[in-house]
Amino acid sequence: MKNYIEQHKERFLAELLDLLRIPSVSADSKYKEDVRKAAEFVCEKIKVAGADVAEICETAGHPIVFGEKIIDKSLPTILVYGHYDVQPADPLNLWDSPPFEPVVKDGKIYARGACDDKGQFYMHIKAFETMMATNTLPCNVKFMIEGEEEVGSDNLGLFVKENKSKLAADVILISDTAIIANDIPSIDVGLRGLSYLEVEVTGANRDLHSGVYGGAVANPINVLSKMIASLHDENNRITIPNFYDDVLELSPAQREAMAATPFSLDEYQKDLGINDVRGELGYTTLERASIRPTLDANGIWGGYIGEGAKTVLPSKAYAKISMRLVPNQKSEKITEMFTKHFEAIAPAGVSVKVRPHHGGEPYVTPTDSKEYRAAERAMEEAFGKKPVPTRGGGSIPIVALFEKELGLKTILMGFGLDSDAIHSPNEHYGLFNFYKGIETIPLFFKYYSE
Ligand code: BES
Ligand code: MN
Ligand code: MN
Repeated sequence: MKNYIEQHKERFLAELLDLLRIPSVSADSKYKEDVRKAAEFVCEKIKVAGADVAEICETAGHPIVFGEKIIDKSLPTILVYGHYDVQPADPLNLWDSPPFEPVVKDGKIYARGACDDKGQFYMHIKAFETMMATNTLPCNVKFMIEGEEEVGSDNLGLFVKENKSKLAADVILISDTAIIANDIPSIDVGLRGLSYLEVEVTGANRDLHSGVYGGAVANPINVLSKMIASLHDENNRITIPNFYDDVLELSPAQREAMAATPFSLDEYQKDLGINDVRGELGYTTLERASIRPTLDANGIWGGYIGEGAKTVLPSKAYAKISMRLVPNQKSEKITEMFTKHFEAIAPAGVSVKVRPHHGGEPYVTPTDSKEYRAAERAMEEAFGKKPVPTRGGGSIPIVALFEKELGLKTILMGFGLDSDAIHSPNEHYGLFNFYKGIETIPLFFKYYSE
């Protein structure tokens, strides 16, 4: 198996670079045709690797690629999930090389989607090819690679509900998370949930001269800024009433285990170019970024932002706000709480609108299961070191839905690094990580099937 990977590694990489050249940005309708091209590319590669079925499934949005290889119905089935869509590449001027013209530099592949998630799900297709070519596929496999993960997976949710028997499997395997470091393997055992919404604050019925009306009429930008600022108290706790009610606190033993996770605050700060961290009082940085809920403005706009100055009191101001959720918070309930609270704190003289975007529930992977042990053994063999279980801070909303609709647990066996700059300019993925993943995945298949 290792021989096969070694012999074909240049081609594996060349194929990934071809996939990275397709700008499959799901959020921007301008790229609709490219998103489809990426789906067709993925479908073709699954077919060529040896699948019995490889098809494009249409949805109301971007298509889903489905594939399967059933070798024996009595054997277990692993369902591999990934996403071929990517985040928008902007701000373009901050990239050292164009986002959709991948380059390999210092052992890393630079391109939008290199790590999130093209480079990672493509490892599964190459691992599958390797197992097929070396006659070592030990169980059945299904692929479900979607094109709307970065925009909330709404259509995948429907697809899952309507295709339960097509998707029947024993476990879900995903590579879309990170390890601690290349010499500190880890397995993500938690994802946060999400509640994402947009707010609009309206003052006067039109933009006004800021000299003629300024000081006498509410300025929606000033008001919105103050409202957002009031959502955290002096201890950086979120002030929405009852926001923390459903939060599951970790036991002292669990917190101790987390504190033992390898982590250097100094390196963390250095990597980010900050002179201090900031977050909820009473929790460590690792805790703040994984087992605690958050509220953040992701974008804020209104008024004049063109060149020079314009004296104007805008009629409207907007912000996009995300809340990361932890067990047992419920996305819908939190969205409702936010909406009520935000409307309640709006001062007289303005009106507010809250528009929910999308959400998802948190997920925790049990570590006392057959699938976790298989992942642990696979990682240990490939890295020469037992992996550490870690709680991640990001969200893959569809994972909780897989459990609800299909009754399946998910193993998050990702190979990225937090420093890979996903969603940022100069996103990259290490060649070491790409090949290590291709080597580890067949080991998971093997140990899971034993
Ligand atoms: N792969 C990420 C999620 C992730 C990153 C999990 C790092 C753990 C560690 C995924 O593609 C993503 O970006 N998800 C979105 C949610 C979605 C609804 C837009 C996120 O977390 O913001
Ligand atoms: Mn991802
Ligand atoms: Mn992402």
